[in-house]
Amino acid sequence: MEKLCEKTISVIGLGVVGLTTAVGFALKGHSVIGIDVTPEKVMGIADGINPTYEKGLGKALKKVKLATSTDFEQVLNSDVSFLCVGTPGNANGSINSRPMQEAAEQLAEQLKGKKSSHLVVVRSTVVPGTTEGKIIPLFRDMQEVRVCVNPEFLREGTALEDFMAPDRIIIGEDNRRQGDMLLGLYNCTADSSHVLRTNFRTAEMIKYTSNAFLATKISFINEIGNICKKLGIDVYEVAKGMGYDKRISKDFLRAGVGFGGFCLPKDTAALVMHAKETGYTPKILQEVLQLNKEQPLRMLELLKIHIPSLKDKTIGILGLSFKPDSDDTRESRAVPIIEALLKEGARVRAYDPQAIPNFQKLFPQIEYSSAEEVLASDATLIITEWDEFNHLDYGNSIVIDGRKIEAAKRAKIYEGICW
Ligand code: UGA
Repeated sequence: MEKLCEKTISVIGLGVVGLTTAVGFALKGHSVIGIDVTPEKVMGIADGINPTYEKGLGKALKKVKLATSTDFEQVLNSDVSFLCVGTPGNANGSINSRPMQEAAEQLAEQLKGKKSSHLVVVRSTVVPGTTEGKIIPLFRDMQEVRVCVNPEFLREGTALEDFMAPDRIIIGEDNRRQGDMLLGLYNCTADSSHVLRTNFRTAEMIKYTSNAFLATKISFINEIGNICKKLGIDVYEVAKGMGYDKRISKDFLRAGVGFGGFCLPKDTAALVMHAKETGYTPKILQEVLQLNKEQPLRMLELLKIHIPSLKDKTIGILGLSFKPDSDDTRESRAVPIIEALLKEGARVRAYDPQAIPNFQKLFPQIEYSSAEEVLASDATLIITEWDEFNHLDYGNSIVIDGRKIEAAKRAKIYEGICW
């Protein structure tokens, strides 16, 4: 097994995935240079300023003092380049591979004249067939350049932890030697139980399937929760009983207002679109997304049992980020709920411990205030399970809970979405 400690890694794209990859490899003792097109981000990171909400990353960044640049030419000083640019979704759900394509083209342009061997690693989430069909052709005439796929499985909030102690390492390769080099970077041996080596498109599919399965698990338990609500059963007790079965596992069975974030919705939608392009319509996955679209609106149905007309009522929102311990509001379930409330003529008063600045860009017209003021609204909806929401006084409020906050059960009127 070749170990690359004395070699240099370039990481292209310094979002959460790229920065975590860069810092993680630096912590493992490699020399790393981070490359990004945004000058302010590059300068900030070089000064040890963490542009993300990732807590662990900020501390580690100060420790490793990452070299950064906006100059693509810097890849020539490295032996391995990780492509970590974002792959956002198009309006129809398919992925926009343009940023990835452009980064790969720039990389190929630089590597044209390179005389020593270079490994290009596709780490971004790309639909199966992308590496073979779009990336490899860019390097076809370059004898010294080889390509591997190495999808990331980093959760926002615990990204560095996930990098340093991964559940699995998936490597897509067409050449054993390059795969060995890549594993060497992780200080991992080829026979480690959590390593899977496969071809490019299978590695790409594993990433999509993992996120689509997590999304399915959530929509499944939400569907069971919707049934439980009708039957007067607490779905959390049901999930607990199910979770004791190792084949099912207790994780990702927290029923509620649905899944958000940059990855689960986008990757599931992209897989649906990609499957359709092959002539297959994935029925389960379409329903997973549909249920996730409808789930937030159930909060309004429950609210209207207690306040039939929302016109001119003040409705409070606790939680704006897509999950706790994050300031990320992408695909937050608060978005469709607030849209629906405003459409019904309600006034919205919202609080979140971290995500207000990001949310203000989406909804400048609503009121932002403290959690206590939110609870003084005509009714309050809980959208994100921030820990501090367990320490509020709900006594005088009407609460519709989308995330099972125990303390909220002491509200004057309490409705759980699935319990
Ligand atoms: C997700 C995956 O969990 C990571 O493994 C993956 O690497 C990452 O996407 C990615 O592709 O980069 P993340 O988007 O950070 O990570 O968020 P999750 O922790 O998966 O949560 C997603 C959403 O599901 C949140 O809105 C959360 O509230 C919701 N959720 C999660 C539930 O509603 N119920 C659950 O039981 C679990």
